[in-house]
Amino acid sequence: MSMHVIQGYADASSELIQRYESLSSADLFSPVVHLLPERNARVVDVGAGTGRDAAWFAAQGNHVLAVEPVAQFREAGRSRHGTAGIEWLDDTLPDLTKVLARGEVFHLVTLSGVWQHLDTEARRVAMGTLRALTAPDGKVILSVRHGPGAPSRPCFETTTEDTIHLASDNGFRLLHRENRESIQPQNRAAGVHWTWLAFTPSG
Ligand SMILES: C[S@@+](CC[C@H](N)C(=O)[O-])C[C@H]1O[C@@H](n2cnc3c(N)ncnc32)[C@H](O)[C@@H]1O
Repeated sequence: MSMHVIQGYADASSELIQRYESLSSADLFSPVVHLLPERNARVVDVGAGTGRDAAWFAAQGNHVLAVEPVAQFREAGRSRHGTAGIEWLDDTLPDLTKVLARGEVFHLVTLSGVWQHLDTEARRVAMGTLRALTAPDGKVILSVRHGPGAPSRPCFETTTEDTIHLASDNGFRLLHRENRESIQPQNRAAGVHWTWLAFTPSG
């Protein structure tokens, strides 16, 4: 299934690159800005798209691993944002085999607009993967999508409560939840809204 989603993104990449780059990372992350590291943190942005947010985190003095399975997005990210403070990796949820093989843990793990592309079983595996990648004092920040998605990029809607329970089952406790409208006008018009969740290891 993830190959189908990834092919859908690759096919639409020329339109999506412009769209993603037009968004403001500060606006997008405003619900959780108080939880972001100040500097010198190890950050992994999973499903990084064109690296807009990876570049924003890197500009704040962090070291960012941008994980993105779509080659067109990685290439656009490298050419638009350079590589200072950003390393790109081709890897895929739920297993993130290459990221795990590095044996690193991160102060911040972000998934912006990615969780909806995982079905129930993939989300179950992915939450364990996220736990393995999070430092004891680290945080996971992810957005849960509510509302329709493009048919060519399949979405598997889940609830905020289910995501919080799954996180709890995998050794996380909830730090923050906040509902937001979509910052993309076309998604807002289609009734898409988001819940931002932040977790930290429970000990
Ligand atoms: C809606 S876009 C969001 C991109 C970026 N995070 C942003 O906010 O602009 C979803 C991203 O998730 C990636 N993606 C989809 N399925 C994935 C998976 N199984 N593993 C990792 N990334 C995935 C897509 O390639 C795409 O870049």
